[in-house]
Amino acid sequence: MDELFDITGRVSVITGGAGILCSGMAKALAERGSKICILDIDEKQAKAVADEIKSNGGTAIAVKTDVLDKNSLKDARDVVLETFGQVDILINGAGGNKKEATTTETFEFFDIPADAIQWVFNLNLLGTVLTTQVFGEAMAKRGEGVIINVSSMNSFRPLTRIVAYSAAKAAVNNFTQWMAVHFNLNYSKNIRVNAIAPGFFLTNQNRFLLTDEATGEPTERGKQIIGHTPMGRYGVPEDLIGTLVWLISDASGFVNGTVVPIDGGFAAYSGV
Ligand SMILES: NC(=O)c1ccc[n+]([C@@H]2O[C@H](COP(=O)([O-])OP(=O)(O)OC[C@H]3O[C@@H](n4cnc5c(N)ncnc54)[C@H](O)[C@@H]3O)[C@@H](O)[C@H]2O)c1
Repeated sequence: MDELFDITGRVSVITGGAGILCSGMAKALAERGSKICILDIDEKQAKAVADEIKSNGGTAIAVKTDVLDKNSLKDARDVVLETFGQVDILINGAGGNKKEATTTETFEFFDIPADAIQWVFNLNLLGTVLTTQVFGEAMAKRGEGVIINVSSMNSFRPLTRIVAYSAAKAAVNNFTQWMAVHFNLNYSKNIRVNAIAPGFFLTNQNRFLLTDEATGEPTERGKQIIGHTPMGRYGVPEDLIGTLVWLISDASGFVNGTVVPIDGGFAAYSGV
């Protein structure tokens, strides 16, 4: 059983690895013996995560990377290959929403600027596609690899207000399926591409929607979410780890092109 889930020595590249969810993933994979490459635009925070992993006996490097800049991604790939020789696992975690692409009672859909919508699509979809081009090429050459995209539950059924983010994550699901098929048909039967779809996790990207900035109390939206989550709470980064380890290890060797929900039952609950 343990062998199935063993990731000892496997090289994991994690974009957005300095953020809340993906730093949790990075630390958990390091504890299981994976060699970690934190790729993030926030160099200081990326280094802090890598340093924490190393101080706990793990192996990690931090590489300042912009997932929207192919040259930056290629430079990061060179560093990873020079340091560890190969890439076994890619987690496309960099993503997020922004206020300017989010409707409110006073900020209507009709007024959302094109550049705000573009920003959200770029970060979530284009950043995932470009990173997969650069690191997927190394996997294709070697004929082996596992890619995990980080989608969201609103990719299946959109949430109110976050129009661009919902659509961009739906596109990430579609890309996950496309890429899984493309690698197998053109390069190797030993490359798998799946996605995880976290439900509601309280992090920087949604804090302004779920808690009142002034009081720290839950907003109406926050209360609605908990009310519609049969498990009665937000997710915490640790909730993602079991599914992630399953998907990147040999335990899921025949699982390909799927999007796995991790949402405390939110999607299953009609509210009645
Ligand atoms: N928080 C949630 O409830 C939730 C739910 C579903 C899905 N997700 C997804 O999970 C992933 C992680 O989200 P999080 O909540 O931990 O967010 P976060 O904001 O804590 O982390 C995102 C990280 O991405 C990095 N980043 C931003 N732009 C970048 C760029 N151009 N190049 C490289 N790195 C860049 C940031 O510096 C940050 O460290 C995202 O894809 C997000 O959409 C989050």
